[in-house]
Amino acid sequence: MNAKIIDGKQLAMNLRGEIAAGVAALKNDKGVTPGLAVILVGENPASVSYVTAKEKACAEAGMYSREIRMPATIAESELLDKIAALNADPAIHGILVQLPLPKGFDEKKVIDAIAPEKDVDGFTPINVGKMLIGEECFLPCTPHGIIKLIEFSGMDLKGKHAVVIGRSNIVGKPVAVLLARKETNATVTLCHTGTPDVGAFTRQADVVVVAAGRPNTLTGDMLKEGAVVIDVGVNRVPDDTKPKGYRLCGDADFESCAKVASAITPVPGGVGPMTITMLLWNTLESAKRTCK
Ligand code: GUN
Repeated sequence: MNAKIIDGKQLAMNLRGEIAAGVAALKNDKGVTPGLAVILVGENPASVSYVTAKEKACAEAGMYSREIRMPATIAESELLDKIAALNADPAIHGILVQLPLPKGFDEKKVIDAIAPEKDVDGFTPINVGKMLIGEECFLPCTPHGIIKLIEFSGMDLKGKHAVVIGRSNIVGKPVAVLLARKETNATVTLCHTGTPDVGAFTRQADVVVVAAGRPNTLTGDMLKEGAVVIDVGVNRVPDDTKPKGYRLCGDADFESCAKVASAITPVPGGVGPMTITMLLWNTLESAKRTCK
């Protein structure tokens, strides 16, 4: 293996230290404790573990978190009422509805119900639009964490060619926008399921962000020597040798990519810890804004 491991846990820990200091200062100076409401509808196992991790991280940063669990059988109107109550609650500075929602819920309608000034996920159309035109907003957590990770790896993105694989609203599209912003200044190619030969693009890339939701989307033969690989995938693959009966793997084939890349994020321990960290960052920022 040639590649350096980009340690998302380490960077997340560094940033969480800064966030915890910011939380303590805000409490001390203004008497305000940043508060995050996390809504989980249903019992999707991956969502349960994400939500648990988010709450734990809040507590460690000295923030207040309120967990709202609702059965998959509730009416959508009940969920919308809950969001409206949280929008009006001064103890809550951030509202997160864990996605995906169970079948039958209109995800767009639910996200639209979150007040943009409490949308710490950066998912509402107002925040997405502001990000696109470069206005102050809450940046979406995973894409923002990815930019921080690439910088942490030592790469200066200015003038570099970044290839993004995947065009989801949560990762692919926004990360392409952030990479192309003037302050980042990368040249961006966005590949997706309609791209006939993804390798033809990734072989020209200085950095590849793979967010396709499919193992082995990126393999070593698709990389230029020395490229940086950011693997956003979290896939559960059956593995009888593991206590839980599965193991996690990313969208990149780690072994072959690590032979060619100069740096790569592991799964787990790469992008994941950064997503939660940027959520805490946004929640602190939201609480600070209420004091201005
Ligand atoms: N599901 C997967 N990633 C995310 C995320 O960043 N936020 C929310 N709310 N749901 C998700």
